[in-house]
Amino acid sequence: MIETYQKVYQNAFGTPALVMDRGEGAYVWDTDGKKHLDLLAGIAVNALGYADPAMVRAIADQAAKLAHVSNFFTTEPQIALAAKLVDLLVGEGGRSGKVFLANSGAEANEGAMKLAMLHKPGGRIIALEGGFHGRTLGALSITHKPAIREPFGQIPGCGFISTDVEALETLGDDVAAIFIEPIQGERGVVPLSPEFLAAARRTADRVGALLVVDEIQTGMGRTGRWFAHTEHIEADVVTLAKGLGGGMPVGAIIATGPAAELFTPGSHGSTFGGNPVVAAASLAVIDRVAGLLENVAETGAWLRQAIENAGFAVRGAGLLLGITVQDAPGLVGQMRERGFIVNATGEDTLRIAPPLIITPTDLEPFVETLRDLRG
Ligand SMILES: Cc1ncc(COP(=O)(O)O)c(C=O)c1O
Repeated sequence: MIETYQKVYQNAFGTPALVMDRGEGAYVWDTDGKKHLDLLAGIAVNALGYADPAMVRAIADQAAKLAHVSNFFTTEPQIALAAKLVDLLVGEGGRSGKVFLANSGAEANEGAMKLAMLHKPGGRIIALEGGFHGRTLGALSITHKPAIREPFGQIPGCGFISTDVEALETLGDDVAAIFIEPIQGERGVVPLSPEFLAAARRTADRVGALLVVDEIQTGMGRTGRWFAHTEHIEADVVTLAKGLGGGMPVGAIIATGPAAELFTPGSHGSTFGGNPVVAAASLAVIDRVAGLLENVAETGAWLRQAIENAGFAVRGAGLLLGITVQDAPGLVGQMRERGFIVNATGEDTLRIAPPLIITPTDLEPFVETLRDLRG
């Protein structure tokens, strides 16, 4: 099968390590029948693991009823999901909020960039060194890593600053939006400091820019909270994807206050955005994750302590952790041979982002293996 893949699939990802067949809970089986504990969850996507009965039922029921309508019409799941997301972000807090549903994280960020362009026409869009916002041309323009961005150029006006508070102080009135991730996942699970988050909020207010918080990797319960930033700051715009759909392709832009009114008919669109099957799945995910937030916080704290006890430095929050190791890519291969799926962000970080249903009992063998491989 891999030989066929190489013949028929464009080589954007290198050679896949395995052909996956089926999953259940936090475990996935490849086509050779080997069982793996999934500590990556499709890169922070499969919040409920695999084949969650409630999610499967929601998808099947909605598909049997109505799988797609155009945006000339709407559906109950589309409206219910938007209402739920507004409620989770602004709740009773007095701010207003409105949602646009898309199909992926990059697409959610593209939409947020368009909001910035409408908010301050001709203004600059500033993102952070080490940040990742997606691979489409707009989102790529604010994705820092030169190796993946530079071959494709950059939308005029996009630029980067460091994650130091002083860098924010250099920004002026020509800035339309500041894009940040509360924890820079692709950089290697690097949290921004509460001081930086507060300074980003102050700077956005000072220069009249939108503060856009990309919670695509950190949101929807991954850190033990619905959103990783709300403990410290309020955002003008929040983007979501990954865990929101629990494996179904979805992205969301939640805009608050005046930013929620920037799109008018014709400003933006998407054939599949707001798809009722995907929205029904997302609602099922949110419903289940509400009961898992405590598990994320507790199991995350347990795992962090266990990794530290095994002699490794670890950072992150909840069930999004970065472990400092030597030769992370090599370790990923060794782990896979032993039945654990993890991934490397760079040479020295192992990223852990398991399904939110995972328990210490599932994780114990992984910690033991990590200790053994360290020697
Ligand atoms: C913080 C962040 N933003 C955006 C994206 C892009 O999301 P997608 O791959 O769904 O386009 C990612 C994906 O890794 C991400 O981690």
